[in-house]
Amino acid sequence: MIPTIAPACIPWRCAGVADLQPGDRVAYPLHPGSYSEAKLIPADLLVPVPDGVTDEQAAAILLKGLTAHYLLRRIYPVGPEDTILIHAAAGGVGLIACQWASHLGAAVIGTVGSDDKADLARANGCRYPVVYSRESFVDKVRELTGGAGLPVVYDSVGKDTFHDSLDCLAPMGIMVSFGQSSGPVPPFDPGILARKGSLFLTRPTLAHYIARRGDLLSASTELFDLVRSGAIRTHIGQTYDLKNAAQAHRDLEARMTSGSTILIP
Ligand SMILES: NC(=O)c1ccc[n+]([C@@H]2O[C@H](COP(=O)([O-])OP(=O)(O)OC[C@H]3O[C@@H](n4cnc5c(N)ncnc54)[C@H](OP(=O)(O)O)[C@@H]3O)[C@@H](O)[C@H]2O)c1
Repeated sequence: MIPTIAPACIPWRCAGVADLQPGDRVAYPLHPGSYSEAKLIPADLLVPVPDGVTDEQAAAILLKGLTAHYLLRRIYPVGPEDTILIHAAAGGVGLIACQWASHLGAAVIGTVGSDDKADLARANGCRYPVVYSRESFVDKVRELTGGAGLPVVYDSVGKDTFHDSLDCLAPMGIMVSFGQSSGPVPPFDPGILARKGSLFLTRPTLAHYIARRGDLLSASTELFDLVRSGAIRTHIGQTYDLKNAAQAHRDLEARMTSGSTILIP
């Protein structure tokens, strides 16, 4: 949920930032205080928004899209030979990650909370949506991979899915635990990773993957290029006036949202 764009913002030169001019349309993925009409921000945290990408699209996609970028392009570079699991496939990050992984040629298994969300995920590149309330995603992975397991699982749900996600991995597979929508994963014995196949575990956060300006610019350029080409579509599931931000949070907590939520100042 990010009113990422400050269209009235005037980028001011910061040491080492020569690629922005006053009047440029800009966006930023991470900086406190985004529920605002105007703000001051260091110029080196801004990225240019190219023609062909609207303010609303940029606001809806930048943080989630940069997250999908480091998940699919840096932690484990996904390719056409891969079958992968993405939890919350109809969520904000999930819908973008499904489209991006599908664009890269991967087969995506995705967990969703309802049939409507299954349809949405499927329409966005998730080849095998699993409604987890009536079907075990572990069984589905075993069935689809002939018991071999997956090279990578992207888990933003946390507590409710963590251990079952480990059971979906092939030996030496990578467990990417990047969120905790259902609550934090309780402490566990790392020996589990050995017993389940010498698994790798990472608990990443976007900030580290875009800390260098070069990484921020290259990832956002790749993302916006895919938006402009139509390979990745933004899904603004709901829009609220900024003054109704509390209702937006209530709806998110009640799991009534899908795709991205934007707040309009
Ligand atoms: N580490 C990072 O760099 C990074 C970056 C961005 C976001 N994140 C994290 O990634 C997660 C997803 O972010 P998002 O913006 O894309 O959110 P979201 O997917 O739009 O919303 C969360 C979804 O998780 C699913 N879910 C499953 N169990 C849940 C539970 N017990 N309570 C609530 N939701 C549950 C719900 O989908 P179903 O109804 O289909 O189950 C819900 O719609 C969040 O935890 C966020 O903090 C991490």
